[in-house]
Amino acid sequence: MSYVRTLFLSTLLGFAACGAAYAETIAIIGTGQVANALGPMFAEQGHTIIYGSRNPARDTVRELIARTGAGASAAQPAEAVARAEVVMVAVPWDALPDVVRSLGDLTGKIVIDPTNPRIVGDDGLRDWAHDTSNAEILQELAPGARVVKALNTMNWRTMVDPMATGGPVSVPVVGDDEQAKAFVVELIDAIGLEPIDLGPLRYARMVEGMYILWGNANTLERGFNYYLRPAP
Ligand SMILES: NC(=O)c1ccc[n+]([C@@H]2O[C@H](COP(=O)([O-])OP(=O)(O)OC[C@H]3O[C@@H](n4cnc5c(N)ncnc54)[C@H](OP(=O)(O)O)[C@@H]3O)[C@@H](O)[C@H]2O)c1
Repeated sequence: MSYVRTLFLSTLLGFAACGAAYAETIAIIGTGQVANALGPMFAEQGHTIIYGSRNPARDTVRELIARTGAGASAAQPAEAVARAEVVMVAVPWDALPDVVRSLGDLTGKIVIDPTNPRIVGDDGLRDWAHDTSNAEILQELAPGARVVKALNTMNWRTMVDPMATGGPVSVPVVGDDEQAKAFVVELIDAIGLEPIDLGPLRYARMVEGMYILWGNANTLERGFNYYLRPAP
C-alpha cells in the first residue's frame, strides 16, 4: 500500500499516520461464503485479515487463511475483534444479536454489516423480518461502534467478479459516522465495485430491502443486477 493511500486511510480512521498498520487490520467474523469472497480480496489491497471463528482450528478455516495469505490468521471472534479496528460481521442474520453481544467492546471500531434479515412466506418470497434493520439493531447493541451497512445487496459471486454480471454493480452504503463510511467506500471501490453513499444509518432498512427485491426476482426467475447512475 502506498504511503499516500496509507495516510489517506489512517486519516479517515482518525489515527496518526504512524498508526496506519494498526488501522488496516480487519476482523471478519464468520468464515462462510462472504468471508471467503471478501477476505482474500481485502488482503490483496494490503489489509491484514484476522478471521473470527467459533472454531479457528477447523480445516476449512486453515484453508481460508492459506488462500488469504498476507499474514492472515484466525482466532475466537472476541479475540479477533480486540486485535482490529475494522470489523465485518459476516454471520447469519438471525445470529447477529448474540454474535455482537459476544464480541466485547466495539467502541470506536468501524463495524460493517452485510447481513440480510428476511423471512420467507408460504409463497416462497422473502419479506421484512422486523420493523427496523439489522444494522440499527447492531448499533443499539453497540452504541459506541461506527456501524456501516454495506455489501449485502449482491451474491458473493458478484463480489468476486462483478463484471461477470455484464457491467458495473453499485453498492449502497449507509451509516451515521462519515469517516467510517468514507473508509468503507474506499474499501469497496478498491475491490472493483461501485459504492454509493446513500445517507444515514436509518436508511439501512431500505438497503436491506434491496436484497429482498433482488432475491425475490431470482426466485421468480426474473433475476437482475443494477447500477445506480449519477444524476446528470
Ligand atoms: N452468501 C452471499 O452471497 C451473501 C451476500 C451478501 C450478504 N450475505 C449476508 O452475509 C452474512 C454472511 O453470509 P454467508 O453466506 O457468508 O453465511 P454462511 O456461509 O452461512 O457463513 C456464516 C458464518 O458465520 C459464522 N457463525 C457465527 N455464528 C453462527 C451461528 N450461530 N450459526 C451459523 N454460523 C455462525 C460461521 O463461521 P464459524 O463457523 O467459523 O464461526 C459461518 O461460517 C449473512 O447474514 C448473509 O445474509 C450473504
